[in-house]
Amino acid sequence: MTIRALKTQAVALAAALLLVAPLATPSLADVEFKHALDDSVLDLAPIKGEEITDAVKSFYKDGVNPYSGNAEAIAAGKTLYEDNCQACHLEDGRGGMGPSLIDDIYVNARANTDVGMFEIIHSGASGAMRSFSERGLKQDEMLKIIAYIHTLKK
Ligand code: HEC
Repeated sequence: MTIRALKTQAVALAAALLLVAPLATPSLADVEFKHALDDSVLDLAPIKGEEITDAVKSFYKDGVNPYSGNAEAIAAGKTLYEDNCQACHLEDGRGGMGPSLIDDIYVNARANTDVGMFEIIHSGASGAMRSFSERGLKQDEMLKIIAYIHTLKK
């Protein structure tokens, strides 16, 4: 094989690697999601039957909840909140069995951000605040719940 042919091959190989590398990376997350209690990196692999939606992908990139202020998503979030969260955090979010979600006091350091709330809903915190991913809630649904919780804040 001539040097020229080798060079051509090397260039082709490099180009192929560049194309394949992003596809081979399992997560395209730019935000690092960490467990509220020990800062271990969260496993955001989809649960059975879950589709990682464009809204979730966008949230992974910049930590901004695309459903904030979106009336349709907020309505869905309200129903999900009533079914999954209300028992402990109460209807208006003022807290009962769990802390208030609408005041400015946070038990967990990052709970005042959407990323921090997502981390806690997805993977849990202390005691009764268990992982909702393990209970079958989808990440897209978590974003809708977070958008709804913001509407409860005075
Ligand atoms: C069985 C009771 C229970 C249910 C149901 C529950 N939570 Fe919690 N939640 C708690 C408790 C207790 C804590 C405090 C955890 C801690 O101290 O780390 C908490 C903490 C939180 C926090 C962090 C607050 C802070 O100040 O750090 C958020 C956010 C939260 N819950 C959201 C939700 C959402 C959203 C749902 C529904 C998807 C939900 N919780 C369902 C009991 C519950």
